[in-house]
This record gives sequence, C-alpha cells and structure tokens, in this order.
Amino acid sequence: MQVIIKENYDEMSKEAAQIIRDAIHLKPNLVLGLATGSTPVGTYKELIRMYEEGELDFSKVVTFNLDEYVGLPPNHDQSYHYFMHDKLFNHININPANVHVPSGIAKDFAKYCQWYEDEIKKAGGIDLQVLGIGSDGHIGFNEPGTSLASRTSLVTLTEETIRDNSRFFEKEEDVPRFAITMGVGTIMEAKCCLLLANGEKKADPVSVLVEGPITSQVTASALQMHPNAIVIVDKAAASKLKRVDYYKWAYENRPRF
Ligand code: GLP
Repeated sequence: MQVIIKENYDEMSKEAAQIIRDAIHLKPNLVLGLATGSTPVGTYKELIRMYEEGELDFSKVVTFNLDEYVGLPPNHDQSYHYFMHDKLFNHININPANVHVPSGIAKDFAKYCQWYEDEIKKAGGIDLQVLGIGSDGHIGFNEPGTSLASRTSLVTLTEETIRDNSRFFEKEEDVPRFAITMGVGTIMEAKCCLLLANGEKKADPVSVLVEGPITSQVTASALQMHPNAIVIVDKAAASKLKRVDYYKWAYENRPRF
C-alpha cells in the first residue's frame, strides 16, 4: 500500500486528479470506478479544469459508480446519480452510454446487482477505482461486519452513516436506510484502488485502514491485501498514523525506473 500524505485538501485533490489523468493518458478507454461524498469533489473539480484546458479527453472513458441510495430516483437531488452529473459528468465530454451508476429503484435488486457485476466484467474490469472512506471505515456502503468477499448487493446502512449523511438532507428521517453497493470483493478486483481521506474525522478509520489489523469491522482495511492500493490523505487524516516518517520517505524516494 502506498501512503501519500499531503499538506491539505487541495493538494490531496490535485495529486488524485494527476493519477487519474496519467491513467487516462496511458489508456484512453480507461474503466474508471467513481465515488461520491464530499471527499472526491475537489478531485472532480480538478479533472474538469484539466478537461477545459485540453489536458484530458473523456470520450472513451467508461465509468462505474460504487453505490446508490435505495428509493431515490435518478433525478432526486440527493441521489448519487444526480450528484455525479452535477459534480462531474455534466462538465466533461463523457459519453452518457459509458456512464454506470447503480439504480436505487430497480424492481428486482438481486437480479440488478448481478447485472451490474456482469457489466463491469463485460467492460473488462475496473482499471482504477476511486474511493472515499466513511467515519466507520466503510468503502462504498460496505458497513462494519460486511464480508470482505462481498459482491454488489442491497445493504442496510448503519445509524452512524445515516447521521453522517443527514447533512445533505433536510432531516435525518429523509436519509434512506438502504443502499445498493459494489461489494468489498468487487472493489478488490479493480486493478488499482485510489482511496482519499481528509480531515480529523477520518484519522481513526485511516489508522486502521493503513496500520490496523485487517478486519470486516473496518472494511477499508481489506485494501491491505490489494496489490496496488494508493491512499492519499491530508495531514489531519494522517494524524493517527504511526509510521508517517517512513511513508514520507518512501514517497520522496519512490522508484522512478
Ligand atoms: C458515503 C459513500 C462513500 C463515501 C462516504 C464518505 O457513505 N457511500 O462512498 O466514501 O460517504 O463521505 P465523505 O467523503 O462525505 O466523508
């Protein structure tokens, strides 16, 4: 696992956007996994800037989002479908046919989840998966206790996640109780995982993700078993890591050959 510690949110976002840009330059038809939440918004802004300045072409890029709230139609302003269009897709030259955000209003969720998995496979698998981390250590909506081998499925959110995400809704009661999410096993099949975290609230889950035991109680810790995981954090989110000096040293002296 490569741990990159940046001074602040802006630096974290720029570093992440550069990694995504370089991956698209290498493979113009990159299969890009995307995340919602406030953490990647700065990265998306930077990608939009790169597109506007002619540095990036999304015309062949294929995207798969991690998750969606159950019960919210795509045009609901708190749906992840809406969020992704508002924060990224409406501002770049992505082909709408290449965009995949799980549906929160499928008729048969078991069938739909299998279809989503099949679509990822048909696209050749995810090359680069962007991830945030919940304050309870979840990736996607894989809450504590989820099998680290889980596949795309319908899940029940924890009260902590409902409370955390209520800041985007008028009242806590409006936050959906269920979501559809790529599983930990699905995420682990991405060729590269790029997890972003900023702020003090993420210091505890980040410390387990990077240095704690691998445990289904912090599903992000599964990334310790991923052959190519990059974790970019700001100073506040890194504040509970024990081996900061080494991570900085290893980053400054990373092999460039
Ligand atoms: C939600 C999403 C996660 C995201 C998390 C953190 O629960 N399902 O994918 O990582 O929120 O959100 P934020 O970045 O706003 O802290």
